[in-house]
Amino acid sequence: MASRSFRVSMSRCLRTPSSLLHHPSRRRHQSSWAATVSAAQTLFNNAKPDPNAPIVDPLRTVAKEMKFLTGNIRQLLGSGHPALDTVAKYYTRSEGKYVRPMLVLLMSRATALTPKAAPSTPLPPINRPLSPEQILVDENPSAPEFTPLTSTSAIDGTYDTKGGDADVLPSQRRLAEIVELIHTASLLHDDVIDHSVARRGAASANIEFGNKMAVLAGDFLLGRASVALARLRHPEVTELMATVIANLIEGEFMQLKNTARDEANPVWTDEIVSYYIQKTYLKSASLISKSCRSAAVLGGSSPEVIEAAYAYGKNLGLAFQLVDDMLDYTVSEAELGKPAGADLELGLATAPLLFAWKDNAELGALVGRKFAEPGDVQRARALVASSTGLEQTRALAQQYVDNAIQAISFFPPSDAKDGLVEMCTKVMKRRK
Ligand code: FPP
Ligand code: MG
Repeated sequence: MASRSFRVSMSRCLRTPSSLLHHPSRRRHQSSWAATVSAAQTLFNNAKPDPNAPIVDPLRTVAKEMKFLTGNIRQLLGSGHPALDTVAKYYTRSEGKYVRPMLVLLMSRATALTPKAAPSTPLPPINRPLSPEQILVDENPSAPEFTPLTSTSAIDGTYDTKGGDADVLPSQRRLAEIVELIHTASLLHDDVIDHSVARRGAASANIEFGNKMAVLAGDFLLGRASVALARLRHPEVTELMATVIANLIEGEFMQLKNTARDEANPVWTDEIVSYYIQKTYLKSASLISKSCRSAAVLGGSSPEVIEAAYAYGKNLGLAFQLVDDMLDYTVSEAELGKPAGADLELGLATAPLLFAWKDNAELGALVGRKFAEPGDVQRARALVASSTGLEQTRALAQQYVDNAIQAISFFPPSDAKDGLVEMCTKVMKRRK
């Protein structure tokens, strides 16, 4: 399996024009699937765009904040070890889409206007070390050749807010950076697992530096994210974000199998789809749902607002991944900026195929053997194309997006709230 996907990736790399390497993008619960789908289909058939809807650029409403994100992240990643410094900062050289930090900043601004749980208490500093400096740089001080790694982020308690938006607390801004660090760490590991060849406009870190350094750099990012998280001095937020890290790995483990029982010739049941949705939540939506929730928690929001922020992130996160899974079938390699159809090549059965499988039992055997035999990928692709799998996937994503918008409907009007709604539209419209 692994060697097959590696060959596929490499042959695609060789066939991919270098111009494509300049815009690669990321690809990528419920019990009653049938009820969800039928509700989604109704929504899908009735959904009409509102011609009077305001045109909002969600990025513009938090532009001032986003400007400093990369710089602050690079500061968090500083290491006195030159090779580690280079690999750790590699994915920060070109800016990603920053969907996750943007959502944290928009949620922070939108909830600044919503009810608070209690009168605000003085805020603790967000980057002051908890331990003495000599402890944080105590590599091996007794070794004769000891040279300190001057790992500034380990001891540097300064954090310049650079005249940022008054509606965003320093802790919420730092949360946005932590979220991007965790996401980038997961990409470093994911590119090793998927034998990727390109990411964020260049060769992926596993290709540039090898698997070992890419994995270790991902671990380093998690370490630095954990230090920054500890310094927020907010145990509830630490608990939420540490749970996200565990969820990412749980989701990836679930993805190693297409079905819970991993049978050779599985039969379609509701349970198969529940497994896929749960995997999707853990792998993709948990980071968005728990970071939106954390933004509201840090802002001292009322319980109702915290639940709304969480529900928004959960629904948007599920929609985001469903659209990702759809684009893997519908968008060309040139437009996607990375190999199209990669999921089937990696042996993965995602929503379009699962919907198609419900109406065509033939797909069961292909799912069971992870599309590994010659012609399996082509046959599966043809069966999905002649089914309603793609429409049903889009309809389900639309339902999640509608749920996300509904969740924050009671927030008072603001640019940031419009931005959160616009992010939903963007997710449904995106082509890469
Ligand atoms: C991209 O998915 C990857 C993820 C959404 C999460 C990957 C998680 C891990 C590898 C677990 C380890 C996590 C940490 C925090 C170290 P994709 O392969 O569908 O999308 P792509 O096309 O962008 O690669
Ligand atoms: Mg991948």
